[in-house]
Amino acid sequence: MPTETAAGAWALVLVLWGALVGGQNITARIGEPLVLSCKGAPKKPPQQLEWKLNTGRTEAWKILSPQGGDSVARILPNGSLLLPAIGIVDEGTFRCRAMNRHGKEIKSNYRVRVYQIPGKPEIVDAASELTVGVPNKVGTCVSKGSYPAGTLSWHLDGKPLIPDEKRTIVKEESRRNPETGLFTLESELTVTPAPGGAAHPTFSCSFSLGLARRRPLNTAPIQPHVREPLERIQLLVEPEGGIVAPGGTVTLTCVISTQPPPQIHWIKDGTPLPLASSPVLLLPKVEHKDEGIYSCVATHPSHGSQESTPVSISTSETGKEGPATGSVGGSGLGTLALALGILGGLGIATLLIGAILWRKRQPRREERKVPENQEDEEERAELNQSEDAEARENDAGGP
Ligand SMILES: *[C@@H]1O[C@H](CO)[C@@H](O)[C@H](O)[C@H]1NC(C)=O
Ligand SMILES: *[C@@H]1O[C@H](CO)[C@@H](O)[C@H](O)[C@H]1NC(C)=O
Repeated sequence: MPTETAAGAWALVLVLWGALVGGQNITARIGEPLVLSCKGAPKKPPQQLEWKLNTGRTEAWKILSPQGGDSVARILPNGSLLLPAIGIVDEGTFRCRAMNRHGKEIKSNYRVRVYQIPGKPEIVDAASELTVGVPNKVGTCVSKGSYPAGTLSWHLDGKPLIPDEKRTIVKEESRRNPETGLFTLESELTVTPAPGGAAHPTFSCSFSLGLARRRPLNTAPIQPHVREPLERIQLLVEPEGGIVAPGGTVTLTCVISTQPPPQIHWIKDGTPLPLASSPVLLLPKVEHKDEGIYSCVATHPSHGSQESTPVSISTSETGKEGPATGSVGGSGLGTLALALGILGGLGIATLLIGAILWRKRQPRREERKVPENQEDEEERAELNQSEDAEARENDAGGP
């Protein structure tokens, strides 16, 4: 209490000193009336006084006469100056010179500043979730209709948030309405949450006009949820491709490196398997009923859950000869079987054609001379064969 009293006394001293020496600073709210008193002037006419002003409305000093019907400012019967609705253009200096009852000249000097309190600031585009380690837009604080411009500042958990151009970035913008002269401020906050921070930080923004005795205006707080970035979940299969002989073993391993380790559950053909959490699913002695589509789901208490891409597990009779049926295997195996089948078919066809040609040539061969050696004979046979094949192709090409 004593300190407050002392401060009050000092303020009074300063005000009086200002009034006597440098003039008085007046702040007035836009649109409201302002009355400036002419010190020393008698309360009633006849008075000897002169008001003069230098504001946004006047080019230089303008002298007001008591009788003048000025719409902007009027001298009242008691000598005070009335501005019925003050505006931004009324900012400036007002002076009055009056003769008091004892014939002494008294001067009043006012510096008038106007202000407008904006609407309650708001946070727009507020983030509901922030990700650790990457820059996230928290939101944009908007204040509309202030004069002078004033400032917006952000708070985290009640403490001022100082932009550092690294983890805390604030982008500010101000616009001025050309008609009203009032300001719209925007402040966009981007933060990069550090690992291990609060899961639910509270952000708020406040507007301050920078005038004494004017409390800042606060936005409603926002509380985004901070989460660790989810690693990509991977499902590894052994044997690769997920095809196993009946009675074989399949090992499915769910790989995710988030800390703490998440709960891992398994899904087969869309149905969760009733197993305890484990990153490994072992399928020993695989039989037909084990075939299906498997995936794993990692669940974090705070970060939600993530499912792996599914894999197909199937059995294949690898003991039997001949082409695989292809119905059990995946599409890759089917294609392989088809390719093998085509190749096999081509091989058989070639053999057949060869056999036919061989037979056709048998009688001719007897008429020919006995070749000097076996190699020559084979060479000739090959040449004939290709000639004959060409002839056959030409024949086939006809009608
Ligand atoms: C009035 O404001 C001016 C500038 O804004 C400042 O220099 C001066 O000290 C103030 N006077 C009083 C009495 O507060
Ligand atoms: C002068 O008159 C106005 C309006 O009647 C009043 O508001 C103001 O306080 C008066 N000023 C003085 C110095 O008496």
